[in-house]
Amino acid sequence: MYEKNMAEDLKILKGTKDEEYQSLLPQINGLLAGENDLVANMANVAAALKEQFQWFWVGFYVIKNNELVVGPFQGPVACTRIKKGKGVCGTSWERAETLIVPDVQKFPSHIACSSLSKSEIVVPVKRNGEVVAILDIDSEVYDFFDDTDKKYLEEIVALINF
Ligand code: SME
Repeated sequence: MYEKNMAEDLKILKGTKDEEYQSLLPQINGLLAGENDLVANMANVAAALKEQFQWFWVGFYVIKNNELVVGPFQGPVACTRIKKGKGVCGTSWERAETLIVPDVQKFPSHIACSSLSKSEIVVPVKRNGEVVAILDIDSEVYDFFDDTDKKYLEEIVALINF
């Protein structure tokens, strides 16, 4: 007998976007419950989202010395540091709000870590109302993210105990 690691037990349900998030959300909650290590939690959230949705890139940038520094992620190597107000990530941080970008080439200061990325959603992670990190997700498909993603991803990042 041995206790299986929660991550190995991730159940991947396929259905509507709503159904997929609703299936994933309690599982992420379970993964994070009782664990307050920030890196561990960001890593498991990125991995669970990648496993469910197979997005091109999903990961975190954490604010360190007034700059975003890449944290746990799933996908190809990415830009290491992003300044406040720069790119989709730095703009989401500056405005402290979720940004949905249907076509990254039309976002003035977009930072192209990969030319394969076509659309993006960036969700700020807050502690006591202040942005402490951002969750960044890229798709190879234009116009891939909508308000359903915004709603659930904001719920998911709120589960991370910073
Ligand atoms: N495209 C982002 C940079 C991060 S990568 O997509 C992983 C931006 O414009 O901020």
